[in-house]
Amino acid sequence: MNKAIYPGSFDPITYGHMDIIKRCSKIYDKLIVGVIKDNNKKNFLFDDMERRMMIESSLNNYPNVEVKVFNSLLVDFAVQEESKIIIRGLRALSDFEYEFQMALMNRKLNDNISTLFMMPHEKFTHISSSLLKEVIALGGDVKDYAPESIIKKVKDRI
Ligand code: COA
Repeated sequence: MNKAIYPGSFDPITYGHMDIIKRCSKIYDKLIVGVIKDNNKKNFLFDDMERRMMIESSLNNYPNVEVKVFNSLLVDFAVQEESKIIIRGLRALSDFEYEFQMALMNRKLNDNISTLFMMPHEKFTHISSSLLKEVIALGGDVKDYAPESIIKKVKDRI
């Protein structure tokens, strides 16, 4: 089976992430969306189960996509899921250096696993979960960037 992992924080999921997931679901037999449980560089607004449920509720029409929480090295999660492919989205040149470092470190950790990059639709290349939360907190309109149910959850939490 042709299986890939799409890892991230997803705090919360946006249309930009969903765009990548939809593209991958057409290419791979199975896509595992991997939600990182903890990341000591980030203070999450939502816990891992909430982030997982928000993804699941936004993606109910994709039978070959499954959402799982992990709390290990990404390459170990890929091995556990029997996948040799990690998908990362590249939005702009500014993503490149960080992604380059991660891809090479992951390759060093496990050379059997490759990172592949995919571009989301250009209408989502300027957004991130933090930007979405900031605009929502200040009362801005973000309906073009995330499902209504997700925006409501962020508003309620903030
Ligand atoms: N649309 C919208 N936003 C996008 C996006 C897209 N297509 N692709 C990325 N982003 C945004 C995210 O919303 C996120 O925004 P934020 O920083 O405001 O929250 C940002 O880009 C990058 O986040 P993300 O893609 O979630 O990656 P991350 O930097 O949080 O890292 C892991 C997540 C899981 C990949 C990383 O923590 C990891 O690998 N952890 C496991 C431990 C490990 O193996 N470490 C060694 C790695 S070499």
